[in-house]
Amino acid sequence: MAILVTGGAGYIGSHTCVELLNNDYDIVVLDKLSNSKIDSVNRVKEITGKDFIFEQVDLLEKKKLEKIFTEQKIDAVVHFAGLKAVGESVEKPLVYYRNNVIGAIVLCEVMKNFGVKKLVASSSATVYGTAEQMPISEDTPLGVTNPYGRTKLMVEEILRDLYVSDNAWSIALLRYFNPAGAHESGLIGEDPNGIPTNLIPYITQVAIGKLKEVSIFGNDYPTKDGTGIRDYIHITDLAKGHLKALDKVIGSSGIEAYNLGTGKGYSVQEVIAAFEKASGKKIPYKMVNRRPGDIAVSYADPAKAKRELGWEAEKDFDEMCRDAWKWQRNKMNGFY
Ligand code: NAD
Ligand code: UFG
Repeated sequence: MAILVTGGAGYIGSHTCVELLNNDYDIVVLDKLSNSKIDSVNRVKEITGKDFIFEQVDLLEKKKLEKIFTEQKIDAVVHFAGLKAVGESVEKPLVYYRNNVIGAIVLCEVMKNFGVKKLVASSSATVYGTAEQMPISEDTPLGVTNPYGRTKLMVEEILRDLYVSDNAWSIALLRYFNPAGAHESGLIGEDPNGIPTNLIPYITQVAIGKLKEVSIFGNDYPTKDGTGIRDYIHITDLAKGHLKALDKVIGSSGIEAYNLGTGKGYSVQEVIAAFEKASGKKIPYKMVNRRPGDIAVSYADPAKAKRELGWEAEKDFDEMCRDAWKWQRNKMNGFY
């Protein structure tokens, strides 16, 4: 039984591959390496001591995808491949719709033709848009504010229609909150191109001396210290959520969305303080205006995932900061 992992060379995909291999799944990894390097695939092999097939293929190349399904016995798919930068999606909406929406359609067409109807797909807490009621449960009304978010919501809706058309499908839509940290080995982690837009990779690059200071986007939010609050989830916990979702889709049919978050929120200032503790470095910062489109607070109600998948986050926030720091130091030391 083999699991096809699309986008498996990327940040969340590579950590999920480690967990899949450690749990004796056979995997086939597909990635076009547009936002990742072959090194992460090799590191996954190193961490697990296991080998697997890697195909450098674009999801949109249907013939190549069909070839993979012809040559390998694929039983289920974990689908990560996608573009994920909110700002870039505003500048290049067509690129995002083509890659994320058509990519998912091509994947499902091929799965359907080969009779493979078990799918775990990456969604995002971004589908909740500007939700004000906290914590955010799966019943919170959806609404999106940018093209990236719309691609995620569209794919969710396409998959729901697919299930309505054929109840044999079994699909889990995983709505991630804020993934952060790295594998405890320090061998794989997040490797953003250029200057990071997300808070934690930005902080790690300040700590290592690559960037001068953190700009805190707004200190006038209605929160305890005025800075934005988010639900940061350790990447290994997030990866494990995919295995639980896979168990569920393999053993049943239906379509369900699940929040993958911790249920706890940390402010930007708390994140900086925790990271200073983890790294032993002073993190300089300055207050600047709010970033357009940001909301004050976002954290999950993760009860449904616990109830129906038997999953909950286990690692704490300090461990996440320590692992993010270990990965950043390794990278800086010419590791990559
Ligand atoms: P990532 O960029 O590290 O990984 C995505 C991988 O997909 C990359 O390796 C990229 O090369 C590959 N890819 C993109 N388009 C492809 C295509 N058409 N064909 C083949 N490969 C393709 O991103 P990530 O953080 O690991 O995110 C994985 C998924 O999770 C994405 O769908 C993303 O939207 C979603 N997500 C991420 C976050 C986050 O904060 N990291 C939050 C919510 C949801
Ligand atoms: N922040 C700063 N300075 C920075 C970067 C971020 O103060 O340099 C603040 C933000 O204002 C926010 C918090 O840190 O309050 C977290 O910001 P991130 O950019 O790390 O994460 P977001 O919650 O804004 O976005 C993430 C993903 C999106 C996804 C969204 C909702 O990056 O793709 O969660 O799921 F859409």
